[in-house]
Amino acid sequence: MTETITTREGQPWADNNHSQTAGSRGPILLQDYQLLEKLAHFNRERIPERVVHAKGAGAKGSFTLTKDMSAYTKADVFNGEGKTTPVLIRFSQVAGESGYPDTLRDVRGFALRFYTQQGNYDVVGNNTPVFFVNDPLKFPDFIHSQKRDPSTHLRTNDMQWDFWSHSPESVHQVTYLMGDRGNPASYRTMNGYGSHTFKWVNANDEQFWVKYHFISAQGVKNMTDEQAAKTASEDTDFLLHDLYDAIEQGDFPSWQVCVQLIPYEEGLNYRHDIFDVTKVVSHHDYPRIEIGTFTLNENPTNYFDDVEEAAFSPANFVPGIEPSPDKLLQGRLFGYKDAERYRLGVNYEDLPINKPVNPVHSYERDGFMAQGQDGSVNYEPNSKGGPVEDLSARNHGDRVEGVTENSRPYEQDHYSAAGSLYRVMSEEERQRLIKTIATNLGSVSDQEIKVLETKQFYQADPEYGERVAQALGLTMDLIR
Ligand code: HEM
Repeated sequence: MTETITTREGQPWADNNHSQTAGSRGPILLQDYQLLEKLAHFNRERIPERVVHAKGAGAKGSFTLTKDMSAYTKADVFNGEGKTTPVLIRFSQVAGESGYPDTLRDVRGFALRFYTQQGNYDVVGNNTPVFFVNDPLKFPDFIHSQKRDPSTHLRTNDMQWDFWSHSPESVHQVTYLMGDRGNPASYRTMNGYGSHTFKWVNANDEQFWVKYHFISAQGVKNMTDEQAAKTASEDTDFLLHDLYDAIEQGDFPSWQVCVQLIPYEEGLNYRHDIFDVTKVVSHHDYPRIEIGTFTLNENPTNYFDDVEEAAFSPANFVPGIEPSPDKLLQGRLFGYKDAERYRLGVNYEDLPINKPVNPVHSYERDGFMAQGQDGSVNYEPNSKGGPVEDLSARNHGDRVEGVTENSRPYEQDHYSAAGSLYRVMSEEERQRLIKTIATNLGSVSDQEIKVLETKQFYQADPEYGERVAQALGLTMDLIR
């Protein structure tokens, strides 16, 4: 039998097409509560989009652990070969708004949630292993330079290159972004990286540093600028379509989950700072170890519920996985949950997509849209038999020393990592890189910005700088 329409309060709704009026030509009546409710709810349909990574595509699937990692972490999700854990992923653009074309050059977000038996564990990474800045104080300025000009509301290359040319720590990530990875052919054909160094702790309280790599089983495939521009004009949602259609057709994409493991003391004394997210840790020194695979096999049933309301956070750890002293990571531990309280409301953790699979026993109460609460004790400590602390979940300390200050802890070699990246590129990749920089940086109106940035490329590798200078028509006496 066909269901009949009701209001949100369950009352039957007789007419969903004609408002109540005083006579057929008369004005609408205030008593038409159904019309008023419909318009009022519609006015409140939009919520704030994510301040960054606003445009995205999500899917569900599962992770299978193929290598027991209990020697390194007590995290249940990585203990017990063969264990499967449900996952949620959201791939995204960084800079554009939620209706922005998918295939414009950008870093891509790679946010992965494991619904573990010990609560939600999120790795909120990108398709590049490094980032533009390494201090959270610089993040809002960096993002402003990626977004729209406050006076014209236009995106301009001037702003981003102005910021980068005055932030030399960005040159490694800029080289990734201007290289082939800036235009992935599909979300299915890009790798993901946790980017930061994190801490793993095993059941004996031994600590290790860990870096995550998610390697696409589909292979890494990218688009040229020409293909990307053509695709953007033909289908602004190209990457969304691609992922959705593949999963609908049963062509389930998967990724190998790999880690680099670094013994605790070795990490502290490595030849560069492993907590500086503008650097990678050499695979020769610490090879990638494959520990499992995740496969995406389910599309969202409702995009808003499953993707828009998903609240990923780098602060979502589980026992056995902890933050590191990486300053950018430390800033992110605050940023996401604060953004989500604003974007979704104080009880965003109760939304179905954010609920862990294990039971929640929390003393937090009330707030807008609180639901499913009972009369149980709402303070701790108590004599009522309420939930008690779990000491096994405590964080493991690191030694600290020095004075409190606005410190510059990272060594100031901003360039050699970008040079190494340039040198592992094939000649064809280098040609495309130089061409992209020439078009992109070449459109900047201020000569000083071009010179400053080209000096960075030159510091990274003289050939890199010389080729950019030549492409931009800059003489080398300005660069050396
Ligand atoms: C989204 C802040 C650095 C990857 C976000 C959001 C905020 C934010 C507020 C929106 C969260 C939401 O509304 O749900 C920051 C800050 C950073 C930083 C303050 C530095 C201090 C990074 C880095 C990466 C990254 C280094 C990757 C390695 C992402 C991703 C998303 C995101 C993938 C989208 C998550 C999703 O799909 O819902 N960021 N971010 N961010 N950020 Fe960051």
